[in-house]
Amino acid sequence: MIKKVSVEKEKCIHCGMCLNDCILGVLEFDENKNPRYRENGENLCLACQHCMAICPTGALSFGDKNPANSIETGNYDSDEFLRLIKSRRSVRKYKNENVPKDKLDKITEMLKFSPTGCNKDNLHFSVVETKEKMEEIRKLTYEKSISSKNPTPSMETAKQAFQNGDDIIYRGATSMVAVAIDKSKTVPGCETADPIIALAHLDLYAQSLGLGTLWCDMALIAANEIPEVYSLLEIPENYSLNYILLLGVPAVKYKRTIQPERFSIKLLK
Ligand SMILES: Cc1cc2nc3c(=O)[nH]c(=O)nc-3n(C[C@H](O)[C@H](O)[C@H](O)COP(=O)(O)O)c2cc1C
Repeated sequence: MIKKVSVEKEKCIHCGMCLNDCILGVLEFDENKNPRYRENGENLCLACQHCMAICPTGALSFGDKNPANSIETGNYDSDEFLRLIKSRRSVRKYKNENVPKDKLDKITEMLKFSPTGCNKDNLHFSVVETKEKMEEIRKLTYEKSISSKNPTPSMETAKQAFQNGDDIIYRGATSMVAVAIDKSKTVPGCETADPIIALAHLDLYAQSLGLGTLWCDMALIAANEIPEVYSLLEIPENYSLNYILLLGVPAVKYKRTIQPERFSIKLLK
């Protein structure tokens, strides 16, 4: 990421919003009230691009990012968004077909917008996009768990279910997304939060696209326990696998929401 704020001076109305919104205060006005980096500001800058996002006239560019290439923010239908949250379900039955490419493209585009604690380029997503690749992972998982002399309790359960014809790990999903984090580019706390936030965004967005998802401990265990499965995910060196979300075209449709009990919530005055 090139950290360079540049100003189209004829567009700048010198309102100072970019300065006020800058999380680390790395911007200042020059003698003509145009924003610029303070001394050492460029090094401290988190590259969050808030300055470009907030500028009312689109006067600020950030490196090669031009405000004309951003999309306008809007007004959102919060009731519809809440309905999506309430309607999201874990899907354990999938059609034996690939997730349409245009939907996967939308998902990979969306992932760029997931917030991270240090605003660093610290996440990696391995996206299994074909049912053939998924089948390779599935086959290897069960072959290895069946041949394993000392499977862990979860793998023992999976092994037995598979012998009865049940894929209780991948549930017939034709895609999955594994998220990994570059630990050298994060701080404690963010290393657990960043990947999960990304998958939580993906979970809801995928369901808004009509896809099914499943947070999958079993798949994570399989990847961590079976080196051959881990290597099929092509997690880059220096990254550690954090979580896996299964994805596919659902073979079930839920007609209504569930009616969960509230979590413990205490309102503090
Ligand atoms: C972190 C996490 C891990 C999960 N792991 C699995 C799993 O390995 N296998 C599975 O079938 N479901 C798994 N689930 C799905 C939960 O069992 C599911 O959320 C729960 O049954 C409630 O259903 P709902 O998501 O439709 O509300 C997991 C869910 C979460 C949040």
